[in-house]
Amino acid sequence: MPIHEIRHPLIRHKLGLMRRAELSTKNFREMSQEIAALLTYEATKDLPLEPDVAQGWCGDVQVEKLAGKKVTVVPILRAGMGMLEGVLMLVPGAKVSVVGIARNEETLQAHTYVEKLVGGLDQRLALIIDPMLATGGSMVATIDMLKKAGCKHIRALVLVAAPVGIEAVEKAHPDVHIYTASVDSHLDENGYIVPGLGDAGDRIFGTR
Ligand code: URA
Repeated sequence: MPIHEIRHPLIRHKLGLMRRAELSTKNFREMSQEIAALLTYEATKDLPLEPDVAQGWCGDVQVEKLAGKKVTVVPILRAGMGMLEGVLMLVPGAKVSVVGIARNEETLQAHTYVEKLVGGLDQRLALIIDPMLATGGSMVATIDMLKKAGCKHIRALVLVAAPVGIEAVEKAHPDVHIYTASVDSHLDENGYIVPGLGDAGDRIFGTR
């Protein structure tokens, strides 16, 4: 099952704070980064390790280090930037690929306005970050783009997911696992997740 709803008490608590409409921009931002870090911990649980030897205080010590695949974090503009520091706190060596996708209001088709991908994507695990998985349009378009660039291992980290968005990703890309703090009820007539968080971009950037 490619959807992982992480029901850790710290995540439940922090998400509960984020649901409060009166939460300040500063605190909303901090909670986004902290939940992003906790989701990163879960989404990287199976990264391969290899043995290594460290020169310790009492001589050589057998240790382990991350092996093989390097990581790229892929924030979807603009709200995805609100999770970036949280991911980088746990994976500081990750490279950042930035993606901007907008919906043409006439054709309703997703179109790309920023595509700044790092090299060596065929060797990297991509962690796509976007706070809200609503219809899934931007997420599916981002996964399409990454796969076209050669990326083979992709995971998505979202704070809140709507069932319709999960279905869209599962249908188009059944190999992509989604890590979320909550699977919410539905989308309203304006495309907002209910109960959701409101407009996550506005709340992160203070533009509401
Ligand atoms: N984007 C948001 O910021 N909030 C939603 O509820 C849906 C999409």
